[in-house]
Amino acid sequence: MKPVIKVEMVCLGNICRSPMAAAILFNKAKARNDIEIVVSSSGTSSWHTGEGAHHLSQKTWEAAGFRYHHTARQFSISSFDDVDLILAMDLTNRANILNAARTDSDRAKVKMLRSFDPTLAHIDPTSPEAEALVVPDPWGNEIETYQEVFVMVEKAVDGLITSL
Ligand code: 4NP
Repeated sequence: MKPVIKVEMVCLGNICRSPMAAAILFNKAKARNDIEIVVSSSGTSSWHTGEGAHHLSQKTWEAAGFRYHHTARQFSISSFDDVDLILAMDLTNRANILNAARTDSDRAKVKMLRSFDPTLAHIDPTSPEAEALVVPDPWGNEIETYQEVFVMVEKAVDGLITSL
């Protein structure tokens, strides 16, 4: 049996950033055939629960050759019991997840996704430099913004896969 590592990507709406991060990780996880990486995502809001991914987010990961099916759901505190790593896209997501944490063990699972980008790994998410760890919200923007988000998320996911 391979060791199993469960990773949940979290943003606000669970239709743009975290499904894209999950799609990239899901497709790249095969590169680590010594471990099984189980991927999920959620949003701190319930606004889009039950919806598919935003079409520009999906179009962006499909253009990169990735296939991934997504249905939006709200972050639940049960994820603290169910997954090993909870990766926030921005500092508000991080704060909201940490507010829901019950124990130090819950809190230890919460990290910024971009902290796994080797060029950003030195940044403390509680410091004034933490803005550099944010995956900006592309919602309401054109596809170019989604493509920029894809580039930054892919770097972080590559770093994550190497670190596991
Ligand atoms: P996401 O983007 O958090 O990356 O899924 C958003 C999607 C929808 C909204 C905000 C952000 N919204 O306000 O509905």
